[in-house]
Amino acid sequence: MTPKLLILGGTMESTAFCNAAAEAGLDGTVSFAGRVDRPVRQPLPQRVGGFGGAAGLADYVRDNAITHVIDATHPFAAQMSTNAVEAAKMTGVPLIALTRAPWVAQEGDNWTHVPDIEGAVGILNGSPRRVMLAVGRMHLAEFAPNPQHFYLLRLVDPPKETPPFPDHHVLVSRGPFTTADDTDLMRDHNIDLVVSKNAGGKGAYAKIEAARALGLPVIMIGRPDIPARPEVSTPGQVLDWIRTGHLGTDRGV
Ligand SMILES: NC(=O)c1ccc[n+]([C@@H]2O[C@H](COP(=O)([O-])OP(=O)(O)OC[C@H]3O[C@@H](n4cnc5c(N)ncnc54)[C@H](OP(=O)(O)O)[C@@H]3O)[C@@H](O)[C@H]2O)c1
Repeated sequence: MTPKLLILGGTMESTAFCNAAAEAGLDGTVSFAGRVDRPVRQPLPQRVGGFGGAAGLADYVRDNAITHVIDATHPFAAQMSTNAVEAAKMTGVPLIALTRAPWVAQEGDNWTHVPDIEGAVGILNGSPRRVMLAVGRMHLAEFAPNPQHFYLLRLVDPPKETPPFPDHHVLVSRGPFTTADDTDLMRDHNIDLVVSKNAGGKGAYAKIEAARALGLPVIMIGRPDIPARPEVSTPGQVLDWIRTGHLGTDRGV
């Protein structure tokens, strides 16, 4: 059977996999939620927008004769990943997740771990700080209870609504970023605290390295729970899984 892939995307990893799949001559579609105004161009056909829950995704998989689903979404896209697990059960179409390990604190890091966004909001209830808030525009409203801080917001697109705190600076920029640039950025804005999701991977790690270099504390937001599914960490492993039908060692692409 000729593989027909559905790649749940929205990350640098999904773009890397789409490049590898296109190079390997595989047929497939990459799916975006539609959160960003200018998604990165892909070498495979694209679709944009939700499927309508797990049942809608299962319908899409059946209607389009998808043979393999590759969940390459962000580790914080827990709803989409949960739906993908459910849809795999409903359809019997195999699912694999292309994931990245969480960041782990190193010597010189000063992290306070919180389990979720709410935990980060709770911890920010003190005296005014100068905060680099790297949580994405969807979550800005949740920080409204703490308007006393200056917030440096780095976003892929300009916010659709004015952030609910008076003292802020918006920087519209898409990663990956460099440690040197992020160190300068934090210095320029006199940042004294960084709030970050534990995204893992390289694209967003520069701010963590910059915080370490400057001796700044980081509030590190833990990952949401996602149901168990087969996981690999490289595009080559996904290609091997498609070719062989089982998980093996990474032989590269
Ligand atoms: N969360 C982050 O921090 C983050 C960071 C960088 C990139 N992203 C990317 O942004 C997108 C949305 O993330 P999220 O955290 O908002 O997701 P989410 O909370 O897990 O998903 C909410 C709903 O959005 C739709 N959706 C999400 N990802 C989709 C995709 N790739 N294709 C089609 N529909 C999708 C689904 O709607 P239906 O139920 O209607 O199908 C899903 O139930 C994902 O593609 C993710 O990889 C997220």
